[in-house]
Amino acid sequence: MMSPEECQHLSILLKIMNAKKTLELGVFTGYSLLATALALPTEGKVTAIDINRSNFEIGLPFIQKAGVEDKINFIESDALSVLDKMLQEVKEDELFDFVFVDADKFNYGEYHERLLKLVKIGGVIVYDDTLWSGRVVAPVGTPHSEYDAKVIDYFLKFNKFLAADSRIEISQVSTVDGLTICMRLI
Ligand SMILES: C[S@@+](CC[C@H](N)C(=O)[O-])C[C@H]1O[C@@H](n2cnc3c(N)ncnc32)[C@H](O)[C@@H]1O
Repeated sequence: MMSPEECQHLSILLKIMNAKKTLELGVFTGYSLLATALALPTEGKVTAIDINRSNFEIGLPFIQKAGVEDKINFIESDALSVLDKMLQEVKEDELFDFVFVDADKFNYGEYHERLLKLVKIGGVIVYDDTLWSGRVVAPVGTPHSEYDAKVIDYFLKFNKFLAADSRIEISQVSTVDGLTICMRLI
């Protein structure tokens, strides 16, 4: 789950932007979701997608205690199929202000292409884990587990792709797992 510092970061970003309509991919027990719901205004809504509802239910009592359950629309599904459905139905005036991506890492590129059509121009997509706790920039030759090596290789390519993507402006935040903040330009 996200660190408190990263959640503070998300929270202030949402407030500065005055975001009202947001999307989260990858909920787990709902820590970043709770931070998002607390940061949104009363009329704000966050659509939250995860393949597993049972973890969301562990955190749900805390969301209820915080009084923000009404701002949340939880969808139990794999994120790609929900995004594909949204793309078929979306209208220009219904685009998201903000999207937070913290689901399966190897699909970030697939999410990116879809999200650029689902977030409004000037809106923001934040990708978590893009520095994989600093391992992405570890010196060559550093030993990694097989899984970490695959994730590092993926993020090296994904981060280069984002840096060169003229449809967005990015800021790489080197905190905890690494957040990449992308603003849609066109
Ligand atoms: C790192 S956790 C999310 C943590 C959460 N954002 C937080 O800070 O508390 C990743 C989540 O992504 C979900 N996930 C993995 N693959 C997914 C997919 N294809 N579609 C939607 N959710 C997925 C997992 O079930 C898991 O709950």
